[in-house]
Amino acid sequence: MTGAVPVVSLKDILDRALAARYGVAAFNIVDDLTIEAVLAAAVAERAPVILQTSVKTVRMYGRRQLHDIFQALARDVDVPVTLHLDHCPDRAVISDCLRGGWNSVLFDAHELTVAENLRQTTEVVAEARRAGAHVEGEIEGIQGVEDDVGSDAASVVQSLEVAVDFIKRTGVDCFAPAIGNAHGQYKQAPVLNAQRVSDLVAATGIPMALHGGTGLSAEQFTDLIARGCAKVNISTALKESYMKAGLAHLKQAEAKDKWDPPTLFAAQKDAVMATVREHLQLFGSTGKAW
Ligand code: 13P
Repeated sequence: MTGAVPVVSLKDILDRALAARYGVAAFNIVDDLTIEAVLAAAVAERAPVILQTSVKTVRMYGRRQLHDIFQALARDVDVPVTLHLDHCPDRAVISDCLRGGWNSVLFDAHELTVAENLRQTTEVVAEARRAGAHVEGEIEGIQGVEDDVGSDAASVVQSLEVAVDFIKRTGVDCFAPAIGNAHGQYKQAPVLNAQRVSDLVAATGIPMALHGGTGLSAEQFTDLIARGCAKVNISTALKESYMKAGLAHLKQAEAKDKWDPPTLFAAQKDAVMATVREHLQLFGSTGKAW
């Protein structure tokens, strides 16, 4: 890749990954430290990477400030990076992020009827195209509350025909199927409907997004990526390594009565980087930067 701007489109990142059957990790960043750590890990692994923001993070910073931070930290990164808005049911936030430089959005309208979801997703796709951006679609809730969005109720799964019709008529670039996956740590080993991923990819040719990555096994990742899950979402694992490294460091600081913020931040960055590198390696994206 040449030039100083590494930010590329979601479609570019995912279509290459789907063709070569590796997974691109999409990490939910929460602040500047996690942005820096994810980018540093991607550079160390020479891997393309997706940084995604929950609506909660966008609201916490303000859209403009968050994008400014992302841009400043991504400016000199020489691996492909894209900025994605995760689960967003709010059209105003979708429009704001598309205007504000996000490369893609997940319009999460699974609480609407499929017909109304289809109608509005078609509008979001048109809006994204005008902004040069891309769209992930969803018609089935992914179980588990994350950053105040979602529900603990089991997902209502639509038929393959309904899902394929939604993908084709809306023109979404990526789709998030419910296959027994869930956000957060799994309370019991998940039983996944991997065949559904193969069926959706065969019928539509678009990449699937695997939600609820935290807690899946290496075998499950490998199988689902081979079937066409080119985007693999990781949030809980990153938050846990960030917070637990902080806690361990603060316990030591308390024991020694020595309070030095930079060493806390360094310990947290190291822990997040280790988690990120582990996933990039697991998903086969190491060395896939172009
Ligand atoms: P986990 O929190 O289970 O890693 O899921 C992340 C996710 O799917 C974000 O949309």
